[in-house]
Amino acid sequence: MSAPATIVDVRGVDVELGGRRILTDVNFSVRSGDFTGLIGSNGAGKTTLLRLMLGLVQPTQGEVVWPSHAREQRRVGYVPQKVALDVDVPLRVRDFVALGDDGHRYGLRRRTPDTWRRVHDVLDAVEASDLAERRIGALSGGELQRVLMAHALVSAPELLLLDEPLANLDPGATEDIVSLLARVREREHVAILLSAHDINSLLGVMDRVVYIANAHVASGPTDEVVRPDVLSKLYGHHVDVVRVHGRFLVVTGTTSQEPVAEHPDLVVE
Ligand SMILES: Nc1ncnc2c1ncn2[C@@H]1O[C@H](COP(=O)(O)OP(=O)(O)O)[C@@H](O)[C@H]1O
Ligand SMILES: [Mg+2]
Repeated sequence: MSAPATIVDVRGVDVELGGRRILTDVNFSVRSGDFTGLIGSNGAGKTTLLRLMLGLVQPTQGEVVWPSHAREQRRVGYVPQKVALDVDVPLRVRDFVALGDDGHRYGLRRRTPDTWRRVHDVLDAVEASDLAERRIGALSGGELQRVLMAHALVSAPELLLLDEPLANLDPGATEDIVSLLARVREREHVAILLSAHDINSLLGVMDRVVYIANAHVASGPTDEVVRPDVLSKLYGHHVDVVRVHGRFLVVTGTTSQEPVAEHPDLVVE
């Protein structure tokens, strides 16, 4: 079997924001069909890395290469972490999802029966068909999240970027979204790169990890990255990795600036 095609290659990238180095010499690639977890604590640079891939942040060094496509043909869907929505906006879910198909590949165009078929199809893929006629402002957080995924999927992207879709979800809802994404990946043949601060909820579905700490990235198959030697090198100090009941406990130790109670990598059940 031939190796999956590379969708995007991040090569030797540095990013500075506000005069501060946020990312240093970041290298990784995403291949067709991969489910990748982008893991790091708050402020590690996850959102910055996603925005870099979207071309919304420019690197000071290195480049982001999409080997098979010219810029205007890139097929990338994005579900940002925060979406500001006017609760009074008189827009139905199906019209909002259809908007995801504008501009990217075809420019503005009129809705055709094909558009509506596709809208129906992606709402079905995210198990939100029953929401089609609802007003966008009247959705619950969980419903809105599915609709945002449909919006990002309607143009049939080959890569779907999701920024912390599991933040603020209870364990049951987290499991539901993770298994939904696993089904979406199969059905839509889409690679997924999803940022999260806890690696454990993704262990059942993720093939690869891009782990950010200390402005650096380690990437590869999960078992090759989430190891004491690799993470100690990444953090620049000793890190323990313990596997308890099938979950990872990454103990990064403390410094005077990093009280342990506030360190999100320290996952204690
Ligand atoms: N526009 C900006 N200007 C200056 N600093 C920024 C900007 N955006 C993000 N940062 C800083 O970059 C770091 C990484 O932020 P971010 O990518 O949002 O992290 P994460 O998504 O992992 O929580 C943080 O320290 C944040 O304060
Ligand atoms: Mg973020």
